[in-house]
Amino acid sequence: MSSGSLTVVGTGIRLGTHLTRETRLLLETADVVLSLVAEPGMQAVLERLNPKTRSLHDLYELGESRAEAYEAMAEEILRHVREGKNVVAAFYGHPGVFVAPSHEAIRMARAEGYMASMLPGISAEDCLFADLGVDPSRFGCQSYEATDFLVHRRRIDRTAALVLWQIGTVGSVAAAATTQPTGLPVLVEALLEYYPPEHEVTVYEASPYPGFDPLVRTVGLGELSVEHVTALSTLYVPPREPAPLDLTMLDRLGLPRP
Ligand SMILES: C[S@@+](CC[C@H](N)C(=O)[O-])C[C@H]1O[C@@H](n2cnc3c(N)ncnc32)[C@H](O)[C@@H]1O
Repeated sequence: MSSGSLTVVGTGIRLGTHLTRETRLLLETADVVLSLVAEPGMQAVLERLNPKTRSLHDLYELGESRAEAYEAMAEEILRHVREGKNVVAAFYGHPGVFVAPSHEAIRMARAEGYMASMLPGISAEDCLFADLGVDPSRFGCQSYEATDFLVHRRRIDRTAALVLWQIGTVGSVAAAATTQPTGLPVLVEALLEYYPPEHEVTVYEASPYPGFDPLVRTVGLGELSVEHVTALSTLYVPPREPAPLDLTMLDRLGLPRP
């Protein structure tokens, strides 16, 4: 193994309080911390834990597209690893959930013979389950990135819950990390193929501040529009109907019929 290492960690959603002990210790002792977090407050927490913290945020400006920006971020992380440093890359939420440069940096580091690993963190979806009282085991839960959902024509099971991420940038590949839901009307149209316009959907935003309530806006699907959405919004769509019960399967498993 070459000297130099990479550990990718998650800061969670709430300022400071979602950091695990293990993550906090790694942040404090890293040679350099490279960060991509959603809140200036979170950046300040990281800088207090380790003054050698540098934000990757400016790299959003370099690329034409988000994909180019993410490539530049992975490259920047690797540049420090190649200098023989113990690098911690900190992403908000869970660092492996809807975060391309974290996985790419780990892949590149391992391919070049460096130790690289990822620690889990508390994701926005974890907060959603807690705040909206959703247990994914109850109906099952589908989770898609909003643009990916549209362009791949992912199929929905209406008997399960649906979580759509990045509705604040649906239809946009621009590098800037701001709200550009240019494809929101198309998303609504696609969902209307599965659900009636009065089906209630929730635009959810977990609070980054301990003790503060999340933003929860519940509207009929047909009314969902740009003014309900921010860069941090996630859409929760409850199931439309119960799943049918397969009596033959119950019998095969020796389970009692209801
Ligand atoms: C690039 S992904 C990062 C996800 C993050 N790694 C995580 O584990 O939550 C950005 C998307 O996460 C969701 N998200 C981020 N912060 C959120 C918050 N405070 N409340 C709800 N959803 C959030 C939104 O769907 C947003 O478009």
